Amino acid sequence: MSGRGSKKVAIVAGDGIGPEVVESALAVLEAVGADFERVPVEIGLVRWKRTGLAMSEEDLAALKECDCILFGAISTPPDPNYKSVLLRIRKELDLYANIRPFQSQNLDFIIVRENTEGLYSGIEEMDAERAQTMRIITRRGSERIAEKACDLAASRQKLTIIHKSNVLKSDRLFLRTCQATAKRRGVPYEDMLVDAAAYNMVTNPRRFDVLVTTNLFGDILSDEAAGVIGSLGLCASANIGTDHALFEPIHGSAPDIAGKSIANPIGAMRSAAMMMRWLDEPEMASRIEAAVQEGLASGARTPDLGGNSRTVDVTRAVVGLLRGRDTNWS
Ligand code: NAI
Ligand code: MG
Repeated sequence: MSGRGSKKVAIVAGDGIGPEVVESALAVLEAVGADFERVPVEIGLVRWKRTGLAMSEEDLAALKECDCILFGAISTPPDPNYKSVLLRIRKELDLYANIRPFQSQNLDFIIVRENTEGLYSGIEEMDAERAQTMRIITRRGSERIAEKACDLAASRQKLTIIHKSNVLKSDRLFLRTCQATAKRRGVPYEDMLVDAAAYNMVTNPRRFDVLVTTNLFGDILSDEAAGVIGSLGLCASANIGTDHALFEPIHGSAPDIAGKSIANPIGAMRSAAMMMRWLDEPEMASRIEAAVQEGLASGARTPDLGGNSRTVDVTRAVVGLLRGRDTNWS
């Protein structure tokens, strides 16, 4: 994976099951012939325990220098003053669009989550009696996430704008801005209150196509969507900005199953496919996605999907399919 060496990918394995699923994703990338230089960057809880710092300025600089980032998951250190490094990375690299596709046999929709403002703006304070968190929504922030959602919705059916504007002024601005953007772009759109969206996600998920929403709502709705699809372990995401991009499964470090070799690596593999598409290798991305589908269909399933395969079994199955295809294709 270093031949042409023109592209540099930061590899952040992280904590818990992060290293297990990243290893699977790298195996799949290798099997498909992806050509890039790996730049390992140690970030997270293990790093914090060792050095007292979950991420250094040099790490951040290294991430910025690479073409993009392949990320596993990190655990939050048990320190009340700790500020999320993932939020910091999203902010510093201005990864404003969190794109989360959800696909299963009969479902296919995408959640587009604003990734830099809303309730995760980091403007908050707390004392023993009172705590407050500012929910920042800007016209510019709403417009650029709406643009990204419209890019995706343009080749699909419709855009659903998810909000709580009946209660929150901040969401009135979000809704109005998204509506104006969709109208200008000629994309068919509707809007829905977030509580109704949560209900519809369970009762009638097929009604959705592309959803656009604010940071916290997108965070919660996407774990719900993962449940509807069948497992958190299946789902991938791209965090995209103007100059940078980070690809990660949507799950966390899953300490409850870490080290047991039963983590589902599919979300990480699908994230790797999204990365290859972003790196302008759509054919490699499609091959990974097809092999993942075929692997699942052939019964390579970890326990979260009701199967008894281990992480390595699923990885071997997908890699085998890719290598098999290689021979057919050459
Ligand atoms: P989690 O997503 O790690 O796990 C939730 C549940 O889903 C657990 O029961 C876990 O076993 C299961 N699960 C998750 N991924 C799976 C996979 N690939 N295969 C099979 N089962 C899987 O969320 P949780 O437990 O709330 O958070 C654990 C840690 O991860 C916390 O420290 C949290 O802060 C961090 N976290 C990190 C994220 C990131 O790095 N992007 C995102 C979410 C949480
Ligand atoms: Mg989440």
